Amino acid sequence: MTTTTQVTPLTGAVGSAYTRVEGRDKVTGAARYAGEFRFDELVHGWLVLSTVARGRIRSVESGPVLAMPGVLAVLHHGNAPRVTTDYVGIVGRPDPVLALFQHDQVSYVGWPVALVVAETSEQAREAAEALVVEYDEEPHDIAFSAGHPGAYTPEGTVIGPADTEKGDMEAELAASAVVVDAEYATPEEHHSSMEPHATTAHWDGGRLDVIDTNQSTMWIAGELAQLFSLDPASVRVRSEHVGGGFGSKGMRPNQVAAVMAATVLQRPVRVVLTRRQMFSLVGYRSPTAQRVRLGADPDGRLRAFDHEAHSLTSTVHEFVEPSAAVGRVMYDADAHRTAHRLVRLNVPTPTWMRAPGEAPGSFAVESALDELAEKLGLDPIALRARNEPELGPVSGLPFSSRKLLACFEEGARRFGWTDRDPRPALRREGRWLLGTGTAAASFHAGVGPSTAAVTAEADGTFIVRVNATDLGTGARTAMVMVAADALEVDPGRIRIRIADSDLGPAMFAGGSMGTRSWAWAVMRAARELRERLALGGGVPPEGITVRSDTTEAVGALEGKERHSFGAQFAEVAVDVTSGEVRVRRMLGIFAAGRIVNALTARNQFVGGMVWGLSMALHEEAFRDPASGATVGADFAGYHFAANADVPLIEADWVDDPDPDDPVGIKGIGEIGIVGAAAAIANAVWHATGVRHRQLPIRPDRVLLTAEGARSA
Ligand code: MOS
Repeated sequence: MTTTTQVTPLTGAVGSAYTRVEGRDKVTGAARYAGEFRFDELVHGWLVLSTVARGRIRSVESGPVLAMPGVLAVLHHGNAPRVTTDYVGIVGRPDPVLALFQHDQVSYVGWPVALVVAETSEQAREAAEALVVEYDEEPHDIAFSAGHPGAYTPEGTVIGPADTEKGDMEAELAASAVVVDAEYATPEEHHSSMEPHATTAHWDGGRLDVIDTNQSTMWIAGELAQLFSLDPASVRVRSEHVGGGFGSKGMRPNQVAAVMAATVLQRPVRVVLTRRQMFSLVGYRSPTAQRVRLGADPDGRLRAFDHEAHSLTSTVHEFVEPSAAVGRVMYDADAHRTAHRLVRLNVPTPTWMRAPGEAPGSFAVESALDELAEKLGLDPIALRARNEPELGPVSGLPFSSRKLLACFEEGARRFGWTDRDPRPALRREGRWLLGTGTAAASFHAGVGPSTAAVTAEADGTFIVRVNATDLGTGARTAMVMVAADALEVDPGRIRIRIADSDLGPAMFAGGSMGTRSWAWAVMRAARELRERLALGGGVPPEGITVRSDTTEAVGALEGKERHSFGAQFAEVAVDVTSGEVRVRRMLGIFAAGRIVNALTARNQFVGGMVWGLSMALHEEAFRDPASGATVGADFAGYHFAANADVPLIEADWVDDPDPDDPVGIKGIGEIGIVGAAAAIANAVWHATGVRHRQLPIRPDRVLLTAEGARSA
């Protein structure tokens, strides 16, 4: 725990720009990540993944490998201890891939088939690469398309029903003065967190102690207890520092493998995934094929809004990318339909990735609105202003606050939108065609129950204990700031302990809900502690601890549409002779609740916008139809935005404290990516006159469409 060097007001920490409390530890290397903890007798597990997309394991030739230097064990379906995934997990039924080595079936390339354990990591890797596994192969299908004959309607999505429908769609489309009917596609995208997944597990005096990188120690501890039929009190999971999660760091095979091997060998076991392994083991964003139909009156009022989104899942587990849910919040119409369809293929199960649903869904919807504005001869912002709903388009509930137009007004002023000539393909600077684009953003503002404890120590310092997880977002710093204000003390007097399942129940770091959920509990405990201290009497040697639990308060929140909103702006330069697209600048203005820490909040918004740029121009994973494997599953083959791709990006916010949250927080982790790709695609249209409805906007696609435009 380090203190900051900046001068901080005695109260009023919330809203200021505060350096991360663990920042010094991170930049000096003192902060240890899950793969860096040392234990006596530590051994290393290396996962072996299937090379076929479908079939059965015929044999695992362990013999020769067991004779290799340092090798201690080869765990596979023939000898692994039994586990169960027959339980309802923290976030729904567990992925069957967590039932490691329980049967001989292989459902995709990259399915874990064995774990080689050796004295050193190098020995384990050498042996894992030498292990011969034979398969009886069966035909596989990895071809995703909206027209796939197996497409079906799932029972629901992770965030609501599969379909919603009101009004007479065909009648409203027929009665519309202007109609847009377009298909949009986004590719398979991968999380690519800086820190790969890593777990060290060991048995310590009858307790299972797991050092791991994840988004919730409670989640991992709870599921490990279920999988291995352990008393929950005998499982401890810690996750002190996390190098990015983005939805991928839930319960994954690395934790199961480490615990299984530690149990079999009765030695500490570390399992670290390689970058390549992450492409099949930790989830990813499904490709999407989306159709949007919009019908409007001449003044831009929407009569029809129809959004159908296809995504894929594996043959063993269902995950629905909820892309069509974005319209349930953003736009109303007389006829309104949102629908999800799913295709099951021999590919790994997708999972949450930063703004699941909103990221690909907003690309389709916000691109379609831009096309509608073009057809109507309306400014894209004016079109959105004309369609601001009073109530939730599907729920009919009031919004807790909805400051979308305030974001557009502030953004338009700062970006210089009002001088924009709406006609496309008119601005040229040497070989570059220039254009600007905009798009709206929203993300659900949720909260979950949490507990916290705040202790006043006899020496005048304080300790906050909350089972939060700081994915690198600055969450623990935000907790310190919230506690400082509630206690009316300098943040430098507060220490914080997080990410340890022994600290008690708390919300996971996901859905942009972490900081809001934990801050609520921290605020409560800290306020009550301040009141107790105000009574006088001093602090005894053992300190004074106050605990809080927000379960009741969170449960009592009335039903409302609760969301953050934002307006994205981008300027691009396109060279149609090389196909190169450069983003020149981006601006995002957000209404996302009270901003706790201006410094780390800006990081979150800008980080999301960079990913949006990356989504618009770079990211795309391919599978080889013959093998079913990802082609180039590494950072040479999977391209994402690097520093040289990222221009000046500004993010700022309008005042928008949540009226129903004690701190006013809404959550900021995900909204930065929402709408960013659409703003860039709309800017590319404005520059070139060509609509790109398929991401990423690659040079070859720019070239092909430019040639098409020339020959047309
Ligand atoms: Mo986020 S996709 O809920 O980690």
